Amino acid sequence: MKRSLGVCYYPEHWPEAIWAEDAARMAETGLTWVRIGEFAWSRLEPRRGEFHWDWLDRAIDTLAAAGLKVVLGTPTATPPRWMLDRHPDMLAVDAEGRPRGFGSRRHYCFSHFGYRTECARIVEKLGNRYGRNPHVAAWQIDNEYGCHDTVLSYSEAALHGFRKWLHARYKGDIGALNRAWGNVFWSMDYADFDDIGLPNLTVTEPNPSHVMDSRRFASDEVVVFNQIQVDLLRSRTDAPLLHNYMGRITEFDHYAVGADLDIATWDSYPIGFLSDRLEATPEHKARFLRQGDPDFQAFHHDLYRGVGRGRWWVMEQQPGPVNWAPWNPAPLPGMARLWAHEAFAHGAEAVCYFRWRQAPFAQEQNHAGLLRPDSAPAPALGEAAEVARELAQLPEGAGCAPAEAALVFDYESAWAWDTQPQGADFSAFRLAFSAYRALRRAGLNIDILPPDASDLSAYKVVLAPGLFTLSDPLRAALAGVGGVALVGPRSGLRTPNFAIPVPLGPRLAGLDATVVLSESLPPGVSVPLANGGRFVHWRDVIEGDAEVRLAATDGHPAIAGGGSVRLLAGWPDDATWDLILGDVLAELEMDHLNLPDGLRLRDTETHRVLPPLLLADCTPPTHYQNRLLLAIHIPQSPTFPVGTRYDH
Ligand code: GAL
Repeated sequence: MKRSLGVCYYPEHWPEAIWAEDAARMAETGLTWVRIGEFAWSRLEPRRGEFHWDWLDRAIDTLAAAGLKVVLGTPTATPPRWMLDRHPDMLAVDAEGRPRGFGSRRHYCFSHFGYRTECARIVEKLGNRYGRNPHVAAWQIDNEYGCHDTVLSYSEAALHGFRKWLHARYKGDIGALNRAWGNVFWSMDYADFDDIGLPNLTVTEPNPSHVMDSRRFASDEVVVFNQIQVDLLRSRTDAPLLHNYMGRITEFDHYAVGADLDIATWDSYPIGFLSDRLEATPEHKARFLRQGDPDFQAFHHDLYRGVGRGRWWVMEQQPGPVNWAPWNPAPLPGMARLWAHEAFAHGAEAVCYFRWRQAPFAQEQNHAGLLRPDSAPAPALGEAAEVARELAQLPEGAGCAPAEAALVFDYESAWAWDTQPQGADFSAFRLAFSAYRALRRAGLNIDILPPDASDLSAYKVVLAPGLFTLSDPLRAALAGVGGVALVGPRSGLRTPNFAIPVPLGPRLAGLDATVVLSESLPPGVSVPLANGGRFVHWRDVIEGDAEVRLAATDGHPAIAGGGSVRLLAGWPDDATWDLILGDVLAELEMDHLNLPDGLRLRDTETHRVLPPLLLADCTPPTHYQNRLLLAIHIPQSPTFPVGTRYDH
């Protein structure tokens, strides 16, 4: 596999006179890819039907003349102002019933047919014009579905779409819907699909089954919206189609969108995410202020490798301070390089920095680029050039090494536990991420798998926490795990209709262990376990004859089952995850690292890559367990003083 670098560029932001020099500098930096066009609709079609392709033709030619390959974005995340005159009701509507205004981006409702048709029109034109252009080597569809809370919409278009969707799901049988949702409760029965509303503005909480179907519908609308563009482009280009997903966006099923695309990409802003999207102590945030959380990026690298069925990129890599988090510190020198190497270690085919030059105008003027607004190099330019030189020296390995561990992560669970968290701090992502971090601390290579994973035999350790439902194929796959699968807490305790199954769950093959009661725990309260650990946030009480592998001090099982599938009956805190995993790894006679906070690893087929880390005295390559050790040197890390050497 060939690894490459790229950058996001907005030729429409800059005088044409500097394009050629920009392109030459990109090539000189060692970049391969340039993503353009994803927000350019108002310059491509300033008035409806009046197309201005000339500038885009010249931009592509100029980049190509410098030897660069173009990723062309479809501009559908930024409908121009005239679109609203034509389709005033195309705006998404928030849960309070307010339309979202023009003046930024993503101001559309996925369900609006008129807007979908406009998107199809511009995409068809773009495809006709550039589909066979040899320099357009990939296509990005739209930009960051779901960013800025844009999946859920309570518009008229969404309402009509939802009714149609329900009609199809329940085969026109309103009685079936009433039964599935339990509408006898609180006299919520419907006589007709047209009586059903979207689940906002209710007096108290709406029926969770209603919400769950509305979430499935909203996710399907993203899939359909994407599919329309995919279908138009497939017949017009052979170049790969991709989308740039975001960090910790769970409102739509990324696996389902990814199934229609060739490559998954995501936008990695480690420092912004640390500040903006992570539950962590102030001390943790202070410690990793300029590096980003040690696991958040890796989680998404592994997730999107799964979404892309092996093929994935970072489409936007943070190069310096961003503008959108509550606080926006600058990365340590070296981070733009380290983040790229970490992504490659997880199997990325390409890493593209966002953006080429910092814009002196509009919303993102405080967002760094590879160049400053005056075109002088910003710190990340030199780091990108260094990565390019290093990539040239790396062997063209076949990507990341196979993983020993897997985490099952699904989006329905995120919708379900948003709908009925039961504990104010319960989140499916948070639980899954705590499990992932434990696997990382143990030094394991990890795959993140969808809930329809059918073969787990290659994995020694599988964690399946917080899964709303367990399908029969997943139960079978868990039973066939190559080592130990720990299922739970809160896994398999609901039906797809959002009801409690009878007999009670989770009904794991060969395991007599039933969850008869669950409780959530406020901050500061925990359930002590016999091994010195504790459960926090959540606890399932288990009955049954299964072997009690670990008990709580009150006598209830904490882990039930001694075979390959075991039920985990609570949410372990970090130290408890380590104890539990340590036992499993010891039992399986697997290597068990206990990596210090801030040091993580990922194996490729040729290297063991250890970021973020400080090994001033270790110049790669060094031999390490039959792999080359690729150590990334960060000159000023507060986590590891210069000169610290970590040895296994
Ligand atoms: C991404 C987005 C880019 C830019 C960037 C700033 O979410 O795709 O267009 O806004 O963030 O960090």
